[in-house]
Amino acid sequence: MKIFRKIKEYNEYFKGISKDKIVGFVPTMGALHEGHLSLVRCSKKQSNITGVSIFINPLQFGPSEDLDSYPKQEKQDLKLLENENVDFVFIPSSKEMYPEKMLTNVKVSKLQDNLCGAKRPGHFDGVTTVVIKLFNIIRPDKAFFGLKDFQQYTILKKMVNDLNFHIDIIGCEIIREKDGLAMSSRNKYLTEDDRKIASNINIALKEGMELIKETNYSVKEIIDKLKTKYFKDVRIDYFWVYDRYKLFPLQEGDIPVKDIVITGAFFIGKARLIDNMRL
Ligand code: PAF
Repeated sequence: MKIFRKIKEYNEYFKGISKDKIVGFVPTMGALHEGHLSLVRCSKKQSNITGVSIFINPLQFGPSEDLDSYPKQEKQDLKLLENENVDFVFIPSSKEMYPEKMLTNVKVSKLQDNLCGAKRPGHFDGVTTVVIKLFNIIRPDKAFFGLKDFQQYTILKKMVNDLNFHIDIIGCEIIREKDGLAMSSRNKYLTEDDRKIASNINIALKEGMELIKETNYSVKEIIDKLKTKYFKDVRIDYFWVYDRYKLFPLQEGDIPVKDIVITGAFFIGKARLIDNMRL
């Protein structure tokens, strides 16, 4: 497994990749878990060469967010990737990625008006900007993203389409712990008690999906029921039913039938956790 810390080193390696090879790319911020490894496995199935980047991107963290405490475990990450037979890892420093103050910002509008976009101003501009930089550096044919970050996936798909990038954006299903909690690097922040509360997120989403499929309850009725049953003492950032393609919120009285995503963000202990289910 090749490890590149400098763009120049990667460029030399890229010159040696023959044009008929499919390069699959998994961008990450490290602190890897089974969710990331499932993306790597997806890539290995669909590509000839698989590369992973590890870069904690400061542009996508708000001033009161967890940039400084974001979990770092480079040695362990490299070991995990080596075990998966990844071909290369790109681990740039902040200086390598942002040698000068950035004056360019990539923004996908509308799709970031709700959900995490509304709650974390500037977050998705930071994501799209770094992902474009990474795409331009790595020059992959396919890029793999987890559907846990469903808004991120939707925004990146639109960005690639709008800007005519020749890259397939592939969304891979959410990988869950035994108790149903969606895997996330931020699960590391949870205590045992937090974990018990956090496992209700998946239970509530599943129940929400059943109510959607089997009843004629309105969005408000469904969400109120679930909030009362599962999240009485939890600080909810958002929890609602949205159009799954355009990501706008359904009206309170709407009866959801299809093309929806039920999704939420919840503050539990020191973590902010997101999860979703789609129909
Ligand atoms: O999903 C993530 O880990 C990050 O948002 C990404 C796509 C690696 C960009 O920094």
